[in-house]
Amino acid sequence: MINEKLKQEDLKYIWHPCSQMKDYENNLPLIPIQSAKGVYLKDYENNQYIDSISSWWVNIFGHQNRYINKKIKKQLNTLEHVIFAGFTHKPAINLAKRIINITPKGLDKVFFADNGSSGIEVALKMSFHYHKNLGKIKPKFVSLKNSYHGETMGALAVGDVELYKDTYKNIIIDTIQTPAPKDQTKKSANIAIKKVEKLFKKYHEEISSIIIEPLIQCAGYMKMYHPIFITKLRILCDKYDIHLIADEVAVGFGRSGTMFAIEQAKVSPDFMVVSKGLTGGYLPLALTLTTQKIYDAFYCNYGEYKAFLHSHSYTGNAIACACANAVLDIFEKEDIINKNQKKIKYISKQLKRFKNLDNVLEIRQTGFIAAIELKGYSSDQRINLTIYKEALKNGIFIRPLGNVVYFMPPYVIKKQEIKRVFDTLFEILVKIS
Ligand SMILES: Cc1ncc(COP(=O)(O)O)c(C=O)c1O
Repeated sequence: MINEKLKQEDLKYIWHPCSQMKDYENNLPLIPIQSAKGVYLKDYENNQYIDSISSWWVNIFGHQNRYINKKIKKQLNTLEHVIFAGFTHKPAINLAKRIINITPKGLDKVFFADNGSSGIEVALKMSFHYHKNLGKIKPKFVSLKNSYHGETMGALAVGDVELYKDTYKNIIIDTIQTPAPKDQTKKSANIAIKKVEKLFKKYHEEISSIIIEPLIQCAGYMKMYHPIFITKLRILCDKYDIHLIADEVAVGFGRSGTMFAIEQAKVSPDFMVVSKGLTGGYLPLALTLTTQKIYDAFYCNYGEYKAFLHSHSYTGNAIACACANAVLDIFEKEDIINKNQKKIKYISKQLKRFKNLDNVLEIRQTGFIAAIELKGYSSDQRINLTIYKEALKNGIFIRPLGNVVYFMPPYVIKKQEIKRVFDTLFEILVKIS
């Protein structure tokens, strides 16, 4: 009963994200969470749910991680926050230094923002502004079809998921979308790169940058592609004086199997945006990294009007920075990227049995992200909702994207918990086939 009471109270006051609020009347559960530990979320009636999607892909080292908690508490006792214009602090300096050390070569400067979308806005504005400072007006941005970069106006404009974008098409800036590779083969990557080349050839004088989600279009139904696409894209960007923006908001920090997905393409972008896993799912923080060359184009005497005057009140929040430093400590001390490989293999093994199901169209995996695309269901059937509710009944929190069921858990998940999620999912898919 306490769950229901809290739900009713919540609905009286709160407007939830990414929801049709009326759905919460009958169709959609709204579960008040009392506490969480590791991969488990616990409601007020002591039901537990495995957080199979890391609470929107942010939580990488489990809920209530002892080490992160300790580091946040320590920071809380010294400095919570200070204005970041004209002031600085050690947690931000350490974080900037460390992130530069672990990201691709050539990314030498860090700008702080406070969520993925705002980090993307920074990259887009900086890219345009860089060209402007050099005397070129390049008002166009290119992105891939089916991409997702966030929900603020600029981020939405470079996104291409109809569901989120269509309503606002009259009020967002005009951008160009080019086809993404249609699958993980090299052949598809090469087909897509040819389209990019054609586009760049024609419009390069107007294009500031191209923004991509390296290897995995997460919100775009977990579509995946081959790294060769990015390797070749880098060459085209250099040839046509167009910036390459790597949006690593979702795929950064080990999700793709490597620390950053773009590493697999063996190239460096001109901008890289990180967020989500950066604070292990604790606090909002984003970083936009860029090159010395781009930074230098803004560097001049006061009054020449080249400075990047973008700001957010919570820029460089000290607690969030301390938290991110704790996350980087864990990566270093526990050799997470190497250790994750075993679990990644185990996930592949678990996926195999789904191939033979009648209602499965395709299985995809890159690193710690697995996706099962279903077939034979119309959107009116809302099969995602059926799966979501059925999984919850079995203590699993999984949140399909349309007809795509995906698994993106915290790295601390144990093998037996991985198995439990896939066993449950298998039973559900058999039941609804
Ligand atoms: C690739 C990508 N970029 C940007 C964002 C936006 O991040 P945020 O939700 O923190 O604004 C997301 C969010 O899911 C994302 O997946």
